[in-house]
Amino acid sequence: MPVVKSALHMCGIVGYVGPKDAVPVLVRGLSRLEYRGYDSAGVAAIGKNGLRVVRRPGKLSVLVAALESEPIEGHIGIGHTRWATHGRPSEDNAHPHTAGSVTVVHNGIIENHLTLRGELEAHGRRFSSETDTEVFAHLIDQEIAGGAKSLGDAVRATLRRVEGTYAIVVLSDKFPGDIVAARNASPLVVGIGDGESFVASDVPALLDQTRKIIFLEEGDVAEVRATSCTITDRAGHALSRPVEEVTWSAALAEKDGYPHFMLKEIFEQPRAVADTLRGRLLPDAGDALLDGIQLPVAGLNRVVLLACGTSYYAALVGKFLIESLARVPCEVDLASEFRNRDPVIGVGDIAVAISQSGETADTLGAVREARARGAYVLAITNVVGSAIARASQGSFYTRAGPEIGVASTKCFTAQLAALSLLALHLGRRRGLMTEAAGQRWASSLAALPEKMTHCLEALAPAPKTEPPLQALAARFRDRRDFLFLGRGMNYPIALEGALKLKEISYIHAEGYAAGEMKHGPIALIEKDLPVLVVVPRGPGYEKVMSNLQEARARDGTIIAVATDGDTDIERQAEIILRIPDAEAFLQPFLTVLPLQLLAYAIAIARGNDVDQPRNLAKSVTVE
Ligand code: F6R
Repeated sequence: MPVVKSALHMCGIVGYVGPKDAVPVLVRGLSRLEYRGYDSAGVAAIGKNGLRVVRRPGKLSVLVAALESEPIEGHIGIGHTRWATHGRPSEDNAHPHTAGSVTVVHNGIIENHLTLRGELEAHGRRFSSETDTEVFAHLIDQEIAGGAKSLGDAVRATLRRVEGTYAIVVLSDKFPGDIVAARNASPLVVGIGDGESFVASDVPALLDQTRKIIFLEEGDVAEVRATSCTITDRAGHALSRPVEEVTWSAALAEKDGYPHFMLKEIFEQPRAVADTLRGRLLPDAGDALLDGIQLPVAGLNRVVLLACGTSYYAALVGKFLIESLARVPCEVDLASEFRNRDPVIGVGDIAVAISQSGETADTLGAVREARARGAYVLAITNVVGSAIARASQGSFYTRAGPEIGVASTKCFTAQLAALSLLALHLGRRRGLMTEAAGQRWASSLAALPEKMTHCLEALAPAPKTEPPLQALAARFRDRRDFLFLGRGMNYPIALEGALKLKEISYIHAEGYAAGEMKHGPIALIEKDLPVLVVVPRGPGYEKVMSNLQEARARDGTIIAVATDGDTDIERQAEIILRIPDAEAFLQPFLTVLPLQLLAYAIAIARGNDVDQPRNLAKSVTVE
């Protein structure tokens, strides 16, 4: 059986202890998190009949129906909605996971779970699932069996052995008044009520119960009872955390305080990239793992990337990565074109279908076409068990979490991360990349999320309260046309910048390869036309600079995306959006960020609904 990892913080967690019947409170809390998307749900409670758990794949209504035929009662309980990132949505993979007296819900990934599992099995522990979460349940149960004085002690002792990311919430019928919650790189809050307490992964789950919230910090362990909450670090030292009065509306809380899902998702990108790389990138070995997928690398002719829209632009970046690292020819095709001609593809080719939703009809059609002609098809999607994943031989998942804004942002950079892993993996399998080169590459990739965070924070220091790039947006909001220019790996970024602007601001925008301008389109440049030039330091810099000067000579208004510390650009561009310095291969992860923010800012300045632009839906499934 494959190893099934829990989702990261895309899952929903709730907990309750107090005088009320716990299960309805839990179900209500989970329903408040439905907007985030999920594929299975479960609850556990401790009552007269001890610890009971009910879990189901599918919607919350399926769980509610199951609870009608198998009711569980008690005044203390926990619940979870799971968004699978690995391992199909099923009852076995749904949370809570139980071992002996302990049941656990978890968001995150335990990186050393195989080692821990081996040790537990050697001590006679039997596992009923392949999840990493079940390791938590066994370890905590073992601590209790070994005489831990409290559930908090058992959890702290366990956490000291665990490496990885988590938000966990634990119940044990040996300590039937306690909920223990702990966080490390996955959000978790405690809600304080009147003689009752709550726990949740997200504030919206609690807003109709209480507005008094404790935001747990990294490394915190909270012991939550109906009338108290004590917080310690993992070593057991007491900590004090303020109780904050949350004034957000439910709608704002769903967006974690951001005014729009799109902006929230733009800011989630460092996390989405880090999660997509987690456990797959091996910096010491200079290699990448694809979750055990065995690609037919022997006799490989070609890689063909198939996608639509933003995913197609990610594929265009992917071509550079794959050809450079793996030295194998790589073609990129629009899925809608590929499937409707007589494409040359077959045995010896790997087709990679890239789709956020995993449901896009054209991409699905292209997958079927490629398979029918004998190619091996790998899917890169964000939705486990989606149609494209099912129709492909291998599925490799981005771990961006549900993308709610219609304009794709975090899935784009997560797709770049997945394609980087694929390129590194192919390079090493084909023996064309040395270990040392792989190590250099992998360590640069591992450093990217932090650079992305710096870049976003510098461009938009207070995104929840002050719209980003306001002055720029006010100046350009009434323009009819925009031009985006880039070269090499930043050419697809110019295309993506133009697409983002078109789809949410409804301003006509063209993305062009900077070197192609002189072959015709330069005729379009007239006084004050906004020309956005992606011109980071690195290969091609001088050439893009000269293309920029061509546009400037025709009185276009130059907006440059340029590297921190580049002073030459100051003489050439009227407006500069800065990105941190990065190796050429990794620049697209950064250069796209100001373009996403620019499109967002202009759309907001025009009063558009950025989360639900006109004429567009989240996935295009109609033939
Ligand atoms: C643009 C956008 C679309 C999608 C395209 C493919 O922001 O979201 O262009 O990228 O419809 O969708 P997926 O990736 O779901 O196949």
